[in-house]
Amino acid sequence: MSTVDNSVMYDATQASTRASGAAGASGAVASQRVAAQPTAAMRSLTVLPRVQIAGDQAHIVTPRKPRYERVKQLGEGAFGEVELAVDNDIERTVAIKRIKANVLDEDSVLRFVSEVQSVGRLEHPGIVPIHDVGCDDQGYFFVMKYVEGETLESIIAKLRAGDVSYRSRYSMEARAALMLSLCRAVQFAHTRGYVHRDIKPANIMVGAFGEVVLMDWGLAKRISDTGAPTEMYNRTPLGQDAFGTMLGYAIGTPAYMSPEQARGEHDRADGRSDIYSLSAVFFELLTLRHYLPPKSSVHALLEAVKTEEPMGPLAMHHQHQVSPELAWLVSRGLAKDPAQRYQSLGELIARIEAALNGDAPVQCPCTGLKRANGQWSDFIDHHPNLAVTAAVFGLYFVIAGIASTLWFAVR
Ligand SMILES: Nc1ncnc2c1ncn2[C@@H]1O[C@H](COP(=O)(O)OP(=O)(O)O)[C@@H](O)[C@H]1O
Ligand SMILES: [Mg+2]
Repeated sequence: MSTVDNSVMYDATQASTRASGAAGASGAVASQRVAAQPTAAMRSLTVLPRVQIAGDQAHIVTPRKPRYERVKQLGEGAFGEVELAVDNDIERTVAIKRIKANVLDEDSVLRFVSEVQSVGRLEHPGIVPIHDVGCDDQGYFFVMKYVEGETLESIIAKLRAGDVSYRSRYSMEARAALMLSLCRAVQFAHTRGYVHRDIKPANIMVGAFGEVVLMDWGLAKRISDTGAPTEMYNRTPLGQDAFGTMLGYAIGTPAYMSPEQARGEHDRADGRSDIYSLSAVFFELLTLRHYLPPKSSVHALLEAVKTEEPMGPLAMHHQHQVSPELAWLVSRGLAKDPAQRYQSLGELIARIEAALNGDAPVQCPCTGLKRANGQWSDFIDHHPNLAVTAAVFGLYFVIAGIASTLWFAVR
């Protein structure tokens, strides 16, 4: 599995300038390359006494060890790199995120601070918890729970490759249940006034106990504040990649961002923009392909996000064997107009729950039949004697009807 998320930032207003190799110069406020570099002296050491046993005697020993010791890299994205480390005080493994050296400037430090404080305020089982912050000779870092698992990007890749164990572990129902957990985490953030703005398979992890965790809150924005822009940082363009996070004219990841994000309407981005991204992820998890056909450039993809209608629910059902109720609910989440999507995550969650319980609204003959079937099953559960009597009578009338038709036909 590749954990490297080819990271880029992109500013549509500057794409052509950069494409020609010229340095991007725009009207945007140039970010100051002020790298807040701490010194090696700030490197933290263990604080708890270390105990050494000699014979039957326990001794406190010095010197102290570095508090965190790197084990290996876990992954990287547009702005950060994440490594596995050992916390020598608590004696456990942790994940440490740092700003990548090549994007270290004042903007990235501000974004980093924003990520730390947003995640710190969002304590929820579906949001990775932060344990500590620090600073060493490589710069600022924060320490979070190590999620021993894999990204949804890797899970989708294995399902797409036809991995038998993944196909049996991730049935369509299991995929819907996974999305339900994810939606609950995002709903919690929305109720606390945050939108994530970069929901994509590479930022979602499934842990060893099946827990679904949303990471990477670097682009999270407060939605409760109205009026003044809530970005804490300038929008410094760096590059372009459809599946990498970008920051510029459009903020987010082109392949998963909402049409309003693709249009650069940052003030219009709200909880419904996250609902669009969640639906794009849901589409991909169910069909194992992106919700839009491949495009030749990031610019073409951004145009398609704004204007091109994705595959409809009936095609999803017929071509990818997605159940009609899930296909309908994903399609609504992908409406170009935010007013046509679910207006809150509560609505989307209720629809996923209804689909899992066989209680989805009737939207086509297939959903109608399945709903009738579900209601008949409920009736059998609640009134078994009546149901059996009704079935016997029904059968009797069907047999009597066929018999009398045949009798009249042969006379
Ligand atoms: N707490 C964690 N435990 C395990 N792996 C992690 C953790 N956080 C991030 N990763 C890995 O690192 C990758 C990049 O992390 P992310 O926070 O998305 O960085 P960026 O902001 O640069 O995109 C993730 O896709 C994931 O593979
Ligand atoms: Mg990321």
